[in-house]
Amino acid sequence: MLSVEGLSVRAGSLELVRDVSFGIAPGERVGLIGESGSGKSLTALSLMGLLPEGVTASGKASLDGQNLVGVPERELKGLRGRVASMVFQEPMTALNPTMRVGKQVAEVMTLHGVARGDARLRALELLSRVRLPQPEQLARAYPHQLSGGQRQRVMLAIALANEPALLICDEPTTALDVTVQKQMLELIAEVAPALLFITHDLAVVASVCERVLVMYGGRVVESGPMREVFTRPRHRYTQGLLDSSRLTPRGTRLPTIKGTVPSAGEFPDGCVFRNRCPFASDMCLSEPVLTGDGHAFACWHPGD
Ligand SMILES: Nc1ncnc2c1ncn2[C@@H]1O[C@H](COP(=O)(O)OP(=O)(O)O)[C@@H](O)[C@H]1O
Ligand SMILES: [Mg+2]
Repeated sequence: MLSVEGLSVRAGSLELVRDVSFGIAPGERVGLIGESGSGKSLTALSLMGLLPEGVTASGKASLDGQNLVGVPERELKGLRGRVASMVFQEPMTALNPTMRVGKQVAEVMTLHGVARGDARLRALELLSRVRLPQPEQLARAYPHQLSGGQRQRVMLAIALANEPALLICDEPTTALDVTVQKQMLELIAEVAPALLFITHDLAVVASVCERVLVMYGGRVVESGPMREVFTRPRHRYTQGLLDSSRLTPRGTRLPTIKGTVPSAGEFPDGCVFRNRCPFASDMCLSEPVLTGDGHAFACWHPGD
């Protein structure tokens, strides 16, 4: 359904995302992980035609055969309905504080040409689909009258309003309490038509996704079935990422990956991870290619 082939993202001479390829089938939930600065958000934004000023995408990406990269501005609006995104951090600022929530959900549809009455009915359906009790009553409330968890659900209803084929969630870890967050994640996993889930919270990926892509330095360095990648990571970067996230029973962390993520344009030639990798050798001066069926990795010295 979603097919991404050789996607690159640049800002001037800086290559921020390089040669990324992956696909998502209908109903599939794919996690995109990696430290901050790996290129996860830019990858997602390029699929939505929402790259920042001065940043451009090249390569191929299509959704149900419809091209998503290099599309003229006037065609973008229709496309955005097909790829919906949900940003969790600030439901209070994302929602309009002066408008009743039912109207906010309906408005997303009327902007896409749905008649007002139909949109109002559909909004109620959507509110109950995201399991908000008493949708009629809730539709008349203003955002500040709702709990944080309820506001998140309203945002999910808005994201689903135009029947997107793909839902993208970027960094959905929030100030929500753990129980509310867990319920929200379960709901997203259930209602998403297909899901690209971006996070640095590996536990979240493990609970929500069937497949995972690991990004570092703008590249996908490892990808495969979630269980396999998490139990038998091959790339040394993925291993480091998993090690540093695993808590010992006493709550002390295992050693994290040494060094910090370089700034864009400061990644080394060859393997992008080599200046932080304890296994790097001369071989790593040339760039490893992502290879493998199902479970793929780009590493000259993979672990078992
Ligand atoms: N508008 C921009 N201009 C130049 N560089 C950018 C821009 N946006 C992001 N970057 C750089 O691109 C890299 C990847 O960013 P991003 O996709 O946001 O990473 P992630 O979401 O994985 O944290 C970072 O090094 C970031 O500083
Ligand atoms: Mg990001």
